[in-house]
Amino acid sequence: MALEFRVADLSLAEAGRHQIRLAEFEMPGLMSLRAEYGASKPLTGARIAGSLHMTVQTAVLIETLVELGAEVRWASCNIFSTQDEAAAAVVVGAGTVAEPAGVPVFAWKNESLQDYWWTAEQIMTWPGAYARPELGPNMILDDGGDATMLVHHGVAFEAAGSVPDATAEDSHEYSIVLDTLRASMAADPGKWTRIAARLRGVTEETTTGVMRLYQLAEASTLLFPAINVNDSVTKSKFDNKYGIRHSLPDGIMRATDVLIGGKVVVVCGYGDVGKGAAEAMRGQGARVIVTEIDPICALQAAMDGYQVARLESVLGTGDIFVTTTGGKDIIMAADMARMKNKAIVGNVGHFDNEIDMAGLALVPGVRKVEIKAQVHEWVFDAGAASERSVIVLSEGRLLNLGNATGHPSFVMSNSFTNQVIAQIELFSKHANGEYPVGVHVLPKVLDEKVARLHLAALGVELTELSAEQAAYLGLDRSGPYKSDMYRY
Ligand code: NAI
Repeated sequence: MALEFRVADLSLAEAGRHQIRLAEFEMPGLMSLRAEYGASKPLTGARIAGSLHMTVQTAVLIETLVELGAEVRWASCNIFSTQDEAAAAVVVGAGTVAEPAGVPVFAWKNESLQDYWWTAEQIMTWPGAYARPELGPNMILDDGGDATMLVHHGVAFEAAGSVPDATAEDSHEYSIVLDTLRASMAADPGKWTRIAARLRGVTEETTTGVMRLYQLAEASTLLFPAINVNDSVTKSKFDNKYGIRHSLPDGIMRATDVLIGGKVVVVCGYGDVGKGAAEAMRGQGARVIVTEIDPICALQAAMDGYQVARLESVLGTGDIFVTTTGGKDIIMAADMARMKNKAIVGNVGHFDNEIDMAGLALVPGVRKVEIKAQVHEWVFDAGAASERSVIVLSEGRLLNLGNATGHPSFVMSNSFTNQVIAQIELFSKHANGEYPVGVHVLPKVLDEKVARLHLAALGVELTELSAEQAAYLGLDRSGPYKSDMYRY
């Protein structure tokens, strides 16, 4: 059967392959998992539905999963984050542009929301699974929880017998989710319940997806086991912080080319992502102001030398505003109307609801001018003496992936090594009940293993505990070296 896929342009595959080859060199964790498990193939029988930014780094992740025995279908978890050359290379695989022989990928840069939810459904819709449900997906690898959400909603609506109509409070995007599920349930009744019954679990990449999983677990509506990859130390304390330290300035520069040095940058949120964002902006010579709701993080920001203020106090001061909270309604349309002329507004939290894009479009007389793809000027009072504008990046969606190419390979190697280990754990230990329905984190020894796999590439010489020192500290010489309470 011909390979199913939908990407922008397969002829980009060669360019993608070159980039993937270079990325492999920078992803020692994934490459050593290939060396360790390439022969034993612990993911044989795993059918993974993946929903994660379809970048060059993700291509290395996908091909690692395949090398470990898995079958994979993939979509991006953001409409702007796909690197079309990476998607093409993964589809072509060891085949040719005329006869692709790689992995079914459904992702391209600049999807519509309808496209996006169509791709989310495609990763769940495996050939032959209608007649033989055992051919459908049995694992999810998720980033932000959209694939997991689709299954949970599908099951709930199948139990209720129908999909509700969208209400006035529902977002435009949610109405598309409902339409997608309505169509899929009409085409294949019972599909979501069958899929959920076969799923061994989900491994979730990011803070926002993990928050959604804990909410499901709390409400006792979580349908299958989950591993919280985000809270591996080698994920959130590296990708969220050092990754954003690289990709945030990259996104701002590629989008606008403004000099960051000397500007005032307001960073909303001082969690892991906010810490990396603030450090990056300071590193470029900006004066950074942080906003926070959590007294501990506010105090950390102050002790790190940043001014901490409320957004409303600094609306007229900031030149660049970056949201990093994972919350919603952080910068509202009325806030943007009070900013300096040509202030830049962008988000690196998972969803676009941190910035009030819907409200911006409703400001009387506002005009939207496309400067270039994913860079828009919103003009207030057009034509009047008071005319001013703000520049909004990636329509309020993750600017580091929409305006640049996301985090670099080395840091993503840490995140994705955790992902692969988590997939192996859930898939292979499903039968012995080691991971019951609930949200789990990987054992600390595995977290330490991920770090260990990345030391040699950086020339790190790790000190070894002597037997006497280990006994004195009450530790095993081979780890774990910290209690679960330790915060790094
Ligand atoms: P976190 O929980 O460590 O940090 C978020 C911070 O925002 C917290 O300290 C919280 O107190 C603060 N906050 C919440 N509401 C606020 C408000 N109204 N005003 C000011 N501060 C507020 O979460 P983390 O790991 O930093 O992730 C943040 C977001 O970034 C999540 O949506 C996550 O999924 C996403 N993320 C994005 C990445 C990217 O590549 N762009 C990479 C990793 C995570």
